[in-house]
Amino acid sequence: MNLLASRSSRMKASEIRELLKLLDQPDIISFAGGIPDPALFPAEAIRDAYASVLGGAEAGAALQYQVSEGFLPLRRWLAGQMGKLGVACDEANIFITSGSQQALDYLGKLFVSPGDTALVTWPTYLGALQAFNAYEPRYDRLTPAGGNMTPDAYRAAAAANGGKVKFAYLVPDFANPTGNTLDRQQREAVLDLAGELDIAVIEDAAYRALRYDGDGVPPILALDCIRSGGIDKARTLYC
Ligand SMILES: Cc1ncc(COP(=O)(O)O)c(C=O)c1O
Repeated sequence: MNLLASRSSRMKASEIRELLKLLDQPDIISFAGGIPDPALFPAEAIRDAYASVLGGAEAGAALQYQVSEGFLPLRRWLAGQMGKLGVACDEANIFITSGSQQALDYLGKLFVSPGDTALVTWPTYLGALQAFNAYEPRYDRLTPAGGNMTPDAYRAAAAANGGKVKFAYLVPDFANPTGNTLDRQQREAVLDLAGELDIAVIEDAAYRALRYDGDGVPPILALDCIRSGGIDKARTLYC
């Protein structure tokens, strides 16, 4: 008896969970997962923040149900942070999720019908593949540094597999697992391709803030806002 939905056949045991098992072995320092040093966690600041909220007049509101877009003051603050990255927006453009991982799951659900094509770099972040896999996509290869296929070739391959190209997923800053950062020209080329295919771009900026030296490259979303005329016309979703 198999009662599970057909999509569950694409849900494999999590490789990430297997990687995390190595953490319990005291003789291994694992570089396989992006595991921060626990000594760096701001435990005290987080404890103080919880105490301040739960000890004050807003405790009830903090524990109450909220609109699903997320806490308005946080969305406003994030809109301000995006402004500093060259993305003019307001809280209406911000949606709070439980980490990037939940956003990737939502985006898979939003875009992918079974057989549709997602363009990804090879290799790419396996957590993203796991999030998308549940929605039964096929993958095609994005090569921002080495020259992509033509839009027609991507379109034809997607159609031959019974679907459409829906989005390009990239980690443009210090990519997982390669560490590679796309320069401005490569980011523009991704937008050119996305424009010709009329698809979305999912920019997973998980490591953008981890730059130690050198100048940052503008987010793909910022470049998209320049060419499209603003956030509401942009095709890029920034996680
Ligand atoms: C590229 C990339 N995106 C997203 C995530 C997950 O992010 P979050 O912890 O915000 O769900 C990771 C974690 O390793 C990652 O490497």
